[in-house]
Parts: sequence; C-alpha cells; structure tokens
Amino acid sequence: MYTTGITPQKGVWWKPAHKSEKVWFTIAFAWCMVLFAMMPFWHLRGGQNPSGTRSRVDPAAYRTRVQEFVQQYQVATDNGIPVVAPPAGSDIYLQGQMWMWLPVLQLEEGSEYTLHLSSVDVNHGFNLYPFNINFQVVPGYDYALRVTPTEAGDFRVVCNEFCGVLHHTMVGRIIVRERGSSAVAALLGSDVDKGGDR
Ligand code: CUA
Repeated sequence: MYTTGITPQKGVWWKPAHKSEKVWFTIAFAWCMVLFAMMPFWHLRGGQNPSGTRSRVDPAAYRTRVQEFVQQYQVATDNGIPVVAPPAGSDIYLQGQMWMWLPVLQLEEGSEYTLHLSSVDVNHGFNLYPFNINFQVVPGYDYALRVTPTEAGDFRVVCNEFCGVLHHTMVGRIIVRERGSSAVAALLGSDVDKGGDR
C-alpha cells in the first residue's frame, strides 16, 4: 500500500510523546524564553552600553579635524606619530587608517573626555588592550564616547577588524598620566621622543 501526504503512513510518530520527551521539550522551551528575555534585560541592566552618540562625518573632514587637533595639542613624537596632550574635558580624536592609529593620546587619570573614533579608509576595530573594550571604527561615522580613564598607565589600541595585509601591525597607544602631573613631566621616563617635531 502506498501513502501520500494526504493519507500519510501510520507510524511510531502517531504515538503520544514519551513523558521524558515532554519534560525535555518543556525545559528547552523555558530556557529559550529565559535567553530571549535576557536580551532586553541586559540591554537595560547590563551596564555594558556605550555612552556614545553617533553622527555622519565625511572622512576627509574627519582627517582635517584630527590634523587641527594634533596641531593644537601636540607635545612630542613617538616613532613619527604625534603625541597629543589635550586638556581635561575636551573633545579628543582618534583616527584609524591602514595601518596605524593617529595620534598617540596622552590623557589625565580621572578626567572625562569625549573620544571621537572614525576611520578614513576601511573598517577598523578599536580594542583597548588589556581591557575588554571593543568598538567598530567605520569610515563615514563619528562615534563619540564619553570616557574617563580610571587607571594611569601605557595602553595599546589593537585593531581587531581585518583591514589588509598589515592589519596585525596596527597598534596604537594611549598614555594615561597620573592626576595632577604635567603633560611634559609624564613623558620623562617613557620611551617617547621628548623633542617633538613642532
Ligand atoms: Cu585596522 Cu585591522
């Protein structure tokens, strides 16, 4: 006897599900609902949402703005990359490009800044090493984050978005000086070239 979809074959699947199967189905369904509920819950209560605003920016305009920023606050040069010590509370700029971060930022511990992140060519990834902080750096978008460095030290910005053959060399630097110390004094004892090139 042949069967069709309209007159299906009778089989074991016509028997009611075993109790253990119903129990496992109920557990799996309940867990799905828990995970589903965690998405909005974690959005509201997870404490992981960036304090940022996002706006469109022309990559060429962003590059110009970064150059102005560097001219205004440069204090030294590190391997050819300007080191910039902006005042507390100011807007600070970091530019991702193949394959460097520009400039080196020197910030003061405990002061708040508005950090602008953008790229002038392709997508890059901002990863503040050794912390678990990650942001997409996208050309055409200025991502402004309110940041307050809580720890003095010499930190690295690692690109974590593949951006070409030298992606693995794209490492930037953020120096956080102790609260109250001067920008120039903080450079003493570091390996930054103190002369600058202004
Ligand atoms: Cu920039 Cu990878």
